[in-house]
Amino acid sequence: MAAVNVIVFGATGDVGSHAARTAQQLGANVFLAVRDLAKPVPGLTAEQEKAGRFERVKADLNDAESVGAAVTSTKATRALIYLAHGPDHGMKACIPALKSAGIEFVVFLSSYSVRGRPAETSSDDYISYAHALVELTLAETFGEQNYVAVRPAFFASNILWWSEEIRSGDARIPYPDALFDWIAPADIGRVCGTILAKPEAATGDGDERSVVFLVGPQQMSQRDALAIIGRAIGKDISVTAVSDDEGVALMKKMGVPEGVARSAMNQWSKMNEGSDWYRGSAYEKALRNIEAITERKPLDFAAWADENKQKPGTEWFPKDACEWPDRWVRAGDAVGMTLQATSSTSGLTVVENLTTGRPESHRFANQRELCGFNAEWIVEDLSYDG
Ligand SMILES: NC(=O)c1ccc[n+]([C@@H]2O[C@H](COP(=O)([O-])OP(=O)(O)OC[C@H]3O[C@@H](n4cnc5c(N)ncnc54)[C@H](OP(=O)(O)O)[C@@H]3O)[C@@H](O)[C@H]2O)c1
Repeated sequence: MAAVNVIVFGATGDVGSHAARTAQQLGANVFLAVRDLAKPVPGLTAEQEKAGRFERVKADLNDAESVGAAVTSTKATRALIYLAHGPDHGMKACIPALKSAGIEFVVFLSSYSVRGRPAETSSDDYISYAHALVELTLAETFGEQNYVAVRPAFFASNILWWSEEIRSGDARIPYPDALFDWIAPADIGRVCGTILAKPEAATGDGDERSVVFLVGPQQMSQRDALAIIGRAIGKDISVTAVSDDEGVALMKKMGVPEGVARSAMNQWSKMNEGSDWYRGSAYEKALRNIEAITERKPLDFAAWADENKQKPGTEWFPKDACEWPDRWVRAGDAVGMTLQATSSTSGLTVVENLTTGRPESHRFANQRELCGFNAEWIVEDLSYDG
């Protein structure tokens, strides 16, 4: 039987990149739909892209024409899509464009916050409403049997919203004691990729074949999660609760849209009071879904932290160190570096991510005296896809 053509929108994302690799490993021809053709896909070097016969195609989910053109050029019949924040509410232009161009089956990265029937979701909460609108458009366009909404709960990677606080050792964050499930994006991606390659893997939850709820294996507070991060990176992190407004300001600084941040505060305040998210038979089923679909045990938060702890930076050993911003470098990027010692105790390091064009520099002063013999470029604790 000929291999199926699959197109992954959001292939540079945490979930999308794992979905693309999983679908390819399961025998699909995978097309990586990206907004920037030069941007690396995490976990895939240029050589691995070539060896796996991945092909790149440019498309923006906010531009229905580009979506249709990408599908037509790849002859893909199955697609993974993300929610695109933008003027096309419910992706009412994009989703019909997928269908007209030849897509027969869609996997949508939705959200656990869509709890009941999408049509009954309140417009008061941005996150659940925005995802529910897309599910409605999928149902109208493709019919219940021809799409799957994967609804994951709270991503382990959300801890990276507090990167600056972690770096400072003083985490001032909202709702430190609310419990979350910390699902690993890699597991979500593997679920999406498996369903793309084998739609029958999604047996559906309850009456709805088109919905797959996912949760991480263990409930834990942000305070406890930060303690795990602290141990993984060898740093004591103190935790203090801040207001919703301060939480929104922190998330906006990390690039989260204000509507999403406000909606998160609303959901977290309910979690803090003990919501029913993590109770009942639907939760129990959601707990089993990752392993049932991927045949792999889900990653717990400590395993996720261990896989994601590498932080790029420069260090004047054994004195000061500085870290570069999160996600400054990703697998497959080319990096250039220059090091200038301006005296035996001071100097300048300049590193440039040649793939993205982003430079980072750090000036060191009053350090331990240099021996003047060597400088080291170290890749330590390297892990690749678990
Ligand atoms: N955080 C949570 O707890 C949570 C819970 C439930 C569901 N979710 C869902 O999961 C999503 C985040 O997934 P993730 O961690 O994989 O995200 P991510 O790593 O931040 O990646 C986002 C991906 O979406 C792409 N993208 C954004 N806007 C696009 C557009 N207009 N057209 C095409 N591609 C676009 C980005 O492309 P570029 O590389 O070009 O930017 C990137 O590939 C959320 O947006 C939400 O819908 C999140």
